[in-house]
Amino acid sequence: MKEEYTIAPVSSQDFSSVVALDRAGNPQSAWIEEDYERVTSSNLCSMWGAYRETILVAYIGIFTLIDIYEVISIITHTEHQRRGLGRRLLQTVIKEAYIATTIKEVHLEVRVSNRGARSLYQKVGFIEQGIRKQYYSDPREDAILYSYPITPHIL
Ligand SMILES: CC(C)(COP(=O)(O)OP(=O)(O)OC[C@H]1O[C@@H](n2cnc3c(N)ncnc32)[C@H](O)[C@@H]1OP(=O)(O)O)[C@@H](O)C(=O)NCCC(=O)NCCS
Repeated sequence: MKEEYTIAPVSSQDFSSVVALDRAGNPQSAWIEEDYERVTSSNLCSMWGAYRETILVAYIGIFTLIDIYEVISIITHTEHQRRGLGRRLLQTVIKEAYIATTIKEVHLEVRVSNRGARSLYQKVGFIEQGIRKQYYSDPREDAILYSYPITPHIL
């Protein structure tokens, strides 16, 4: 049976869809298409998407900070949630981290109240590392920090 979703790098042609996902999943996001063009062209950021046929329905964005992949965003369109796409996107980033060989950890942070995302991160194997007090605004809230160690001998 043909798989319903394909995981692939996000094409620059899909940055308008990324912005639409941002607006829906994180209304505070102020990023516009040009911001994604700038950071991806400078190789600071890379993005993976879940496509249904040619439509982008979820994406993950990562920054490379020397030997760390920092997840800056992960969003699945509401109509496509709970179908394993968030998990597949995180697993793709972890696999890429192993392939890169220079990456030691994958990091991310999340609002304390975001139970769904926290449950996803724990299920994938991220480990809670601590709290960043009052990190978020509107509403003000603590962030929980998670990391996933990239252990060379596992792959
Ligand atoms: C968080 C988010 C990316 C999860 O994406 P998703 O594609 O629905 O995640 P998955 O289907 O891969 O979920 C895998 C597992 O994570 C857990 N999980 C995911 N969403 C959950 C929710 N809302 N409530 C409880 N558990 C959840 C479940 O254990 C799930 O497995 P199950 O469906 O077999 O029970 C999605 O809900 C989203 O886009 N939310 C809005 C944006 C956001 O909060 N992003 C994270 C900011 S740091």
